[in-house]
Amino acid sequence: MNAPPVAALESVRFRWRRGAALCLAIDAFGVAPGERVFLHGPSGSGKSTLLALVGGVVAPESGRVVVQGADLAALSPAARDRHRAEHLGFIFQMFNLIPYLSARDNILLPCRFSPRRRARIAAGGGTPQAEAARLAERLDLAPALLDRPAAELSVGQQQRVAAARALIGRPELVIADEPTSALDADRQRGFLDLLLGESAAAGAAVLFVSHDPRLAGAFDRAVALAEINAAREAAPAA
Ligand SMILES: Nc1ncnc2c1ncn2[C@@H]1O[C@H](COP(=O)(O)OP(=O)(O)O)[C@@H](O)[C@H]1O
Ligand SMILES: [Mg+2]
Repeated sequence: MNAPPVAALESVRFRWRRGAALCLAIDAFGVAPGERVFLHGPSGSGKSTLLALVGGVVAPESGRVVVQGADLAALSPAARDRHRAEHLGFIFQMFNLIPYLSARDNILLPCRFSPRRRARIAAGGGTPQAEAARLAERLDLAPALLDRPAAELSVGQQQRVAAARALIGRPELVIADEPTSALDADRQRGFLDLLLGESAAAGAAVLFVSHDPRLAGAFDRAVALAEINAAREAAPAA
């Protein structure tokens, strides 16, 4: 028997503005618990839009987006924000760290918004502070770096802080939007191995988006957005 997906799109249609062309038309796409999925497609094909739907940042004009069993459209905006904080860890393309906060406080941020993440850490006998330090060590961030403002870290260090922030308190799904594109090939690979290793240790599923299909081999499943998105076929040729 298949476990229910951690996130799923069902008959979703999405356009950015009324009257604009359909951006996404996806009949079915889901990520199973613990599954590592690589979603690729050229720039501008709608990958970040799909992630915004899963995050509940935008809503489809029809169809359902279900995260951990909850239809996002059925939640109030506040409940949706809470649901996102509880169950999803995001790593954005530009990392979106808070520049003046220390690396440690950036990593701890989701714990502020998610009682469930705090409870998971407590259930494991730890504290958020200790868990932030443990994750930082696993991600090769030296302890001395944790007190530095995020703005003073290198791109590679910021990326690992963003990964620790996504993973803290073990959300069911980690979502990564082209987090390696600023790195050279060797460091991309190193970061991916760390991210996938730590996600597996946390029992988190991963939805990793990239325009670079060469990264696909590290994942359980690779999906081209064009395979699941009917909107592009329907769009008139320019
Ligand atoms: N905030 C927005 N408002 C209007 N259109 C947008 C917005 N974000 C993205 N788009 C459009 O949606 C399409 C898909 O973009 P995006 O999801 O960012 O692609 P990708 O992440 O694959 O590069 C593009 O045509 C883009 O211009
Ligand atoms: Mg994008």
